[in-house]
Amino acid sequence: MTAVDGGTEVQEELTQTQGLMAGKRGIVFGVANERSLAWYCSKALYEQGAELAFTYQGEALEKRIMPLAAKVKSPFVEMCDLGKDDQIDAVFQKLEKTWDSIDFIIHAVAFAHKEDLEGHFVDTSRAGFALALDVSAYTLTAVTKRALPLMKKGGTVTTLTYYGAEKVVPHYNVMGVAKAALEASVMYLASDLGEKNIRVNAISAGPVKTLAAMGIAGFRDMLKFVESKAPLKRNVEAAEVGKTALYLASDLSSGVTGETIHVDCGYSILGM
Ligand SMILES: NC(=O)c1ccc[n+]([C@@H]2O[C@H](COP(=O)([O-])OP(=O)(O)OC[C@H]3O[C@@H](n4cnc5c(N)ncnc54)[C@H](O)[C@@H]3O)[C@@H](O)[C@H]2O)c1
Repeated sequence: MTAVDGGTEVQEELTQTQGLMAGKRGIVFGVANERSLAWYCSKALYEQGAELAFTYQGEALEKRIMPLAAKVKSPFVEMCDLGKDDQIDAVFQKLEKTWDSIDFIIHAVAFAHKEDLEGHFVDTSRAGFALALDVSAYTLTAVTKRALPLMKKGGTVTTLTYYGAEKVVPHYNVMGVAKAALEASVMYLASDLGEKNIRVNAISAGPVKTLAAMGIAGFRDMLKFVESKAPLKRNVEAAEVGKTALYLASDLSSGVTGETIHVDCGYSILGM
């Protein structure tokens, strides 16, 4: 199978084994292209035996996601703007017709207006604040609620966050506030759903060059800074985020819920 990235052909063979995710099915929100962290999570889960369903935000992304979904033999790919409850409802109604149960959700979705990811946080508009919080934080609760009837034997919900939730990172601004709400949502959802054996966790990834990341002013400088300062003296690789998603979605993490795990080459431990 061949995926196309801006005219460059990307050849990649994926092999599936009956591994840690054998017999498990789940839905992935947030694949935009082959650089997406959601795609790296998908590959890690697929290679260990998982079956995957996907949604994509809008028509423009369809030609990107279809070849990727085919590569992991996905039986379910639907368009869904997670900002719209009726579209989320429709996706879960269709998913119930494809599978009678699911075991995991990967949520890797965030959005803020470009003008809110440069300059000063104090200039954030009411509408920009509401949009960033809605898409980047509330959608985790929106999809988790609809997944509950399908998580019959329990399950896992894994989302993607960033250090800008904990400390001030230049230009991250309203997205930092949204990620703080997301990380708090992870704890509240974990508390609500623990008795159903549903575990909810977040991966706090170091900076990775993706479509969403390139919308943050000064992102390239961030990569250089982290590389020079992080204990491992490098930036994290997207595949390392994928491996942590595998840990969180599989039985390896059976005792872990409500947690935010940093996958950032150690950057977040530094005081100075
Ligand atoms: N790349 C990084 O440096 C980094 C670091 C830490 C955390 N993250 C987080 O990882 C997640 C995935 O981002 P990425 O970096 O892989 O970039 P990406 O651009 O590949 O993925 C972002 C996804 O969000 C989707 N999205 C945005 N608004 C949506 C909506 N209304 N409805 C449905 N989907 C919507 C986009 O379509 C896209 O698929 C985000 O939550 C991001 O904040 C990224």
